[in-house]
Amino acid sequence: MSSETRDILEKHDLRPLWEVEDEMGTSRPTVEADIWKWEDIQRAIDGIERDVPIADLPPGFQRRVAVPINTPTAISNSIYVGVQTVSPGETAPAHRHSANALRFAIDGHEEMKTVVAGEEFPMENNDLVTTPQWEWHDHVNDSDETAAWLDVLDLPFVLDSLNARQAFENHELERQPVTKTQGYWDSQYGGGRPADEKSDGSIPGPFEGRMDATPPYRFGWDEMLETLRQREENDDPDPHDGYSLAYVNPATGKEPLFPTMSFRAQLLSEGPTDPHFHNATEVYFVIEGEGATHVGEKVLEWDKWDIFVVPPNEVHHHEPDDEATLLGMTDRPVFEAFNLYAEAQPS
Ligand SMILES: [Fe+2]
Ligand SMILES: [Fe+2]
Repeated sequence: MSSETRDILEKHDLRPLWEVEDEMGTSRPTVEADIWKWEDIQRAIDGIERDVPIADLPPGFQRRVAVPINTPTAISNSIYVGVQTVSPGETAPAHRHSANALRFAIDGHEEMKTVVAGEEFPMENNDLVTTPQWEWHDHVNDSDETAAWLDVLDLPFVLDSLNARQAFENHELERQPVTKTQGYWDSQYGGGRPADEKSDGSIPGPFEGRMDATPPYRFGWDEMLETLRQREENDDPDPHDGYSLAYVNPATGKEPLFPTMSFRAQLLSEGPTDPHFHNATEVYFVIEGEGATHVGEKVLEWDKWDIFVVPPNEVHHHEPDDEATLLGMTDRPVFEAFNLYAEAQPS
């Protein structure tokens, strides 16, 4: 290329394709396979709890959370996880936002409640509670023990990958008024559904959306575990994910739970799984058991309550010591929405 042509290109912010091609896909931080051990997380959250009362945090996002870091701000480029604690008598104040979120109770209590859309949802161990897009939510610890849980949000997808902003609003009250009886939201998604409400599938709030909104909902662990055991007795495991249950959107009865994120309870009890790879990211929380996940050349050795990440396109398989249950989290619905999901086995 002549220097005259190069000058013209540079002067007008133009580059030839063959020079930018190799740089495509490198502008975001690379996610590495990695693991965060519970004993380290525990020390961090204990320290934060000792040093920082929620009330001392700046007004706005008053949440006391330790965040596993792999990119500058999160565990991956699409899914964020954090471990949050609320001390006895404390409240994490009510707010709402455009990000989809859920809570998975690690160290829970029936008097530890996430209040969503007017209903108190108890957070007992391994319960999963949705706090969907634009629904008011606060966390209220009326027990005499510190509660800890996993927060999972799609923040990095919107803020980092799309480089967009999210809508956010604080409630005028620290605790939103409780206007529904316990069990109300669960009861609306059984065999009988409200017949008098218009169901146009739109997402509430100032958002454009065509997918059925995820309701506030609590998936109790006892029922999930019983269903896993029934599958173990009667069905064959998935070769890559073991006995695997999707947390479905109760409005549709289908995956994904949120338009941006999908969740599975996985029981690994039949030895090592088969290796595969895919372009979606997977984040795991170890509910119970010990074992290892092999990711490329790395071996992530895990036990109870550890958190680990399997980056896109890396060959991986799980190897439980005996029996293990995992919470699997993935951004796969984003790929599937655009017909971009790809999965294969190593040759
Ligand atoms: Fe929130
Ligand atoms: Fe996988």
